[in-house]
Parts: sequence; C-alpha cells; structure tokens
Amino acid sequence: MSNRVLVTAALPYANGSIHLGHLLEAVQTDVYVRARKMAGDDVIFMWAADTHGTPIELRARREGITPEALIERAHADHLAVFQGFGIGFDIYYTTHSDETKAHAERIFKAIEAGGGIASRETHQLYCPHDQMFLPDRFVKGTCPKCGATDQYGDVCERCGATYDPTDLKDAACSLCGTKPELAASEHLFVPLAKHEAWLRSWLRPIEEGGETHLQPTVRNYVQGWVDQGLRDWDISRDAPYFGFEIPGHPGKYFYVWFDAPIGYIGATQRYCDQTGADFGAYWQSGDAEIVHVIGKDIVYFHCLFWPAMLHAAGYTTPSRVQVHGWLQVNGEKMSKTRGTFILGRTYLDHASPDYLRYYFAARLGAEQGDIDLSMEDFANRVNADLVKKAANLASRAIKFVGSRLDGKVGVAADDAAPLLARARERLAEAPGLYREFESGRALRLAMEIAEDFNLYLTEAAPWKLVKSDPERARAVCTAVIEACVMIAAILKPVLPGWAEKVERMLRLQPLTFANAGASLAAGLAIGEYETLAEPLDPAKLAAIIEASKESAPAAPAAEDAPAYEVEPLQPEVAIDAFVGLDLRVARVVAAAAVEGSNKLLHLTLDLGPLGSRSVFSGIAKSYAPEALIGKNVVVFANLKPRKMRFGVSEGMVLAAGSADDAITVLELDGKARPGERIS
Ligand code: MSP
Ligand code: ZN
Repeated sequence: MSNRVLVTAALPYANGSIHLGHLLEAVQTDVYVRARKMAGDDVIFMWAADTHGTPIELRARREGITPEALIERAHADHLAVFQGFGIGFDIYYTTHSDETKAHAERIFKAIEAGGGIASRETHQLYCPHDQMFLPDRFVKGTCPKCGATDQYGDVCERCGATYDPTDLKDAACSLCGTKPELAASEHLFVPLAKHEAWLRSWLRPIEEGGETHLQPTVRNYVQGWVDQGLRDWDISRDAPYFGFEIPGHPGKYFYVWFDAPIGYIGATQRYCDQTGADFGAYWQSGDAEIVHVIGKDIVYFHCLFWPAMLHAAGYTTPSRVQVHGWLQVNGEKMSKTRGTFILGRTYLDHASPDYLRYYFAARLGAEQGDIDLSMEDFANRVNADLVKKAANLASRAIKFVGSRLDGKVGVAADDAAPLLARARERLAEAPGLYREFESGRALRLAMEIAEDFNLYLTEAAPWKLVKSDPERARAVCTAVIEACVMIAAILKPVLPGWAEKVERMLRLQPLTFANAGASLAAGLAIGEYETLAEPLDPAKLAAIIEASKESAPAAPAAEDAPAYEVEPLQPEVAIDAFVGLDLRVARVVAAAAVEGSNKLLHLTLDLGPLGSRSVFSGIAKSYAPEALIGKNVVVFANLKPRKMRFGVSEGMVLAAGSADDAITVLELDGKARPGERIS
C-alpha cells in the first residue's frame, strides 16, 4: 500500500459558529494527521465549510443578507477559530465552489449513466404562505405517538418516536404557523439496494480480507442497516434551495447531504490545482488511503450513502471512517443557559488552546464513547500532567545545566540506561497508537517517561553532587534531558509548540518518532530554558462559562446588510385604537416552565388592587423562569382571555424580539406600582 493519505474531518455547517464539540473532532483529526506526518507518511488534511441547504437559505433571509454573504462570513469565522487552535489543515475550503459543483455534477451524471438514479413523484408538506416545501425540521405539531405538542416533523423529543412529518397532528409551518398542504413533486432517488453486494464487501473488515477499517461497533450497526434492507435515498430538493442545480433536471437541487461530502473532493481539487499535487492519485486511482473522522450522528451518511456514491461513480472509496463520541461539558449536554455551550472563540479569549488540545487528546481513544469535559478534571489533569510532570522535569534539568554546568550536556549516566531503554520502547509505541486514534494512550506513555525520570532526578540529586562530582551531575541531567526529548516527540502531534521550544533549546532537528531517541551530542551547548507550560488557573475556566452564558443568545450582527424586505404597513388606525388598549404594571410573582412546550413560560402576575393573573408567554427560549421573578412588566390587561393548549391566558406580557431566543420583555423600574395604568 502507498503511504499517500488523505484525511478529512466533517465539514462544519456554515450556519453556525464553531463550538467545543467541533473542536473535539478538529483536534482528534489534527493530532492524527500530525502524528502520521511525523511517522513519515505523506498526508494531506482536506477540509471545508458545509454551506448548502434550507437552514442557511432561511437564516440569510432572516438576517437580510444573501446566502453567499452569510457563508463567507461563517467561513472567515471558522477559519480564524481553527487557526487559533492550531489545527493544521492543508485547506479549509467551501462546498459552494466551482470544484465541488463540477465533481457533484460528474458524480451524479456517472451514477445516472449507470442506471443508478430513479425518479418518482412524492408528496410532501408545502407551506402556501412561504411558498416552499418544508424540511422535517421546519414542520411542528403534536407527536402522533405520545401527544406531546410543539414537536419537529421527524422525531418527538418527548417520547423519541420517529415518523414522517405528514403523521404529525395539527402540523404547522415553523416559519409562519400556516397549516401546510400536501403537494406533489418529482424527486430523484439513489436506490441503494442496487449497491448492497458492494456495500457488504466494503463493510468487510480488513482482518477478514476486506479493505475497510470501521470500529467494530460502528460496523455492526451499519451492517444492521444493510440487513434491514436499504431504502432509496432522496437526493433532490425543490427551489428555493441554496445549493447546486441538478444537471438535466431544471428547478431541482442537490440535497445538501449529496454535495456535502463531495466537498472533500472539491477541496482536494482546489488544493491540487494550487500546489500541483496529483488529484487523480487521491480520488481516482484507488491507491490512496482515505480517512474520514466524523461524529456519531453522521455515520449513516458516511458509511452507506457516501461509499456507495463513490463506488457507483468510480472514485476511490474510504479506507477508514473513524467515529468519535459526543462532547459533554460538566457531565451534561452542552447548554446555553448553563454556559456550557462554549464557542471556540470564547475559549480563545480566555485560555491557551494548548490546554484544550492536550485535554481532548488525552481523553480521546479509538472507541466512540462520549467525552466529558469536566472543568475541574480539565484543570487538574493539565496541571498534573503538563505542568507538574513534563514541564517541571525539563525545567529542573535544563535550568540546572544552564546555571551550574556551563550550559553543556555530556553523556547520559550509566545508571539511567535501563530507564532510557524503557523510554525508547515507549517512544517506539507512540506512532502506532496515534495511527489507531489512541492519542490518550500515546500521551500516557509520555507521562510515564516523565514519572520515571522525575523520580530518577530526585534520587540522583545532581544539586548535591555538583561541587564534588560535576561530571556525574552533568551525566544525570543529560539522561533526564534525553528523556525530555522523547517526551516532547510524543507530545508533538498534540503540542507542536512545546516540541518546537525543545528543539530550539537543545539545538535539535525537527523531532520525529525516529530521531527523538538519539543521544545528545556530548559537549552540546544548550540554549536558555523556555517555559513549556504554565498552570491553568481554574478562574479562567469559570470566566469561560460566565462569558458563554452572556454570549450564547447573541447572533452575530449583519454588517453592511443590504436592503431587505419587510411586511407592508397595516391600514392606518385612529388613536382610539390605542386608547382602548389597557396596559398595566404587573409584578411577576411566579414563573414556571410549561411541560410539553419549549417556548412558553407560565407567569403569575400581581396587578395590585386588580388581583392576580395567569398568563402564558412565549419567552421560554429567552428567559429562565427564575430570572423574571420580582420584575415589573407591562401587561395588556383587557385582552379577552384566550384558551390555549396548556390553560387559559389572562392577558399578554409586552415583549419583542427578532427570534424566539432573542426576546426582550419590556421591563419597568422598581418604582412602578402593580395595577397602575400605563399611558
Ligand atoms: N455539515 C455536516 C457534516 C458534513 S460532512 C460531509 C455536519 N456539520 S456539523 O457542524 O453539525 O457537525 C460537524 C461535526 O462536528 C460532525 O462530525 C459532528 O458529529 C461534530 N459535532 C457537532 N457537535 C458535537 C459535539 N457536541 N460533540 C462531538 N462532536 C460534535 O454534521
Ligand atoms: Zn410558512
């Protein structure tokens, strides 16, 4: 097999900002790529932003900008964050590119020419007001199984049932609330069953003579999908859709999941055109290793559709799909209200990316279990490993040589030979572990070397010998420094900056797994100690959580927004219409979430002499119930009571916002007296 390797991480949606979940994947991929490069493989890391689909189209509309402007802004933002974390991709391109379009068309045409595209009429929910077919996530209604209200069109968050959007009871368009209609449309499908035999062979493990590496658990459930029978895959969408029009099928667009992975190929094409690298060697001749790193939510796309498409169109198929688990923070799903939905940018504002790179890499392994970023464990681990073990060892030895031994190393002490031999064995194990995505185990090896040599240094105590036997002291320090070189090499894929400092201090060639075990040149004059790691102050982590609480709901501002459309004005009314509206001061005395609704809060309002009111208000995505208690708000008090699904609402609290999670309740100061009329 050639050692030409193409690695990808999943393409982050241009619809959102980069958060720590994305960074877990980015770090895992980066470490893998760097380690394989260090081991001498010819590796490229091809990456891009995923830019198509309805959410992007709609978000751009909402912000009053074009989808192109939206994805450009997101791209710049992603790029800056990933660079800030030292992710060593060779390209971070975009799926909205000529290269991706050309390959999408080519792949589609090849599949079509091979008889691999079917076409038939489908019936889907259509919003007559928005004049568009509604993706599952844009239909809301009552779960047909358990009756929970306000559920998406594909899955019930209460009972977990999955269904078609047409099964929802009282379905409504989530954009405008209109009841959608069933409308007919011609769609294009890839009948996957046609590729069943090939998919079964692709799924065969390398150990059984197959070609693909999947983690056994992943292989089992993909195999399960194949056994259940492969369904036709709908790859077309109707306009309006931000994406590529399907050649030969005007008005039809590729579904975002059709062209998203082709973005891997588009990025490679761009990279090869710019650098002169051989595109065909990666995607056409079949002799490159293609390795995808993804999260467990997108296995279906990468282990069924994608290989089948590539196979059908005659492209190189993946040799490995590596699936990681979900990132949790402090033991729970990342949450905006708890401040654990942490954006990459927010993290970078407060702490060094090296800490997070180390922690993620130390926690990651080949298995796809979820990974918890517990802030307490994070600080402890970084401080114990990087600062107390590894950096401290280097600092003790290198500074001592500098200050007491003329800055010169010698020949490693004989009594350190067994420990050095053991360290070399560990060094030799590291590349294989990294290659198997076992970064946690590789880093353990580095820490074990550090533990051994910290003990050795303490026992050999060169500071006691330096007067009587300076050469013995030099030999001890030399052994320790040689160990530090091996530690730096093992850390290098994770902490390239650390390795660079060691290379500089010790006048070394760039470290590789092959050269790091060599003895230092006797008599070598070393440079001054450069700090390798500083303690991670837990206060910084607390600040990150605080900042995430504030920043979460704020959507990035649209700069230079061009003209956008708004609803025309309603017919004029006389001032009496306003006079008839009775607005009163009300104090919130109780506020509670409403079971079965993620939008509504149930408020109990005190209107002073006018008594109390029970009001439902659609502000749950913007306010935690506790945050409202004691506030003076304004209530539309002579509104006829309305019966809602959850009870009767006796009034309306004045509030406004650009989105459900950006609502501001009109708030009065503490002097306002409940019940008073507002004019
Ligand atoms: N655009 C698609 C991928 C297309 S690949 C051709 C997508 N984008 S995403 O932005 O939602 O996710 C990008 C990657 O980040 C996915 O692999 C996803 O699993 C991963 N993660 C997103 N949130 C995550 C966590 N909380 N934890 C770990 N990984 C997570 O899916
Ligand atoms: Zn609508």
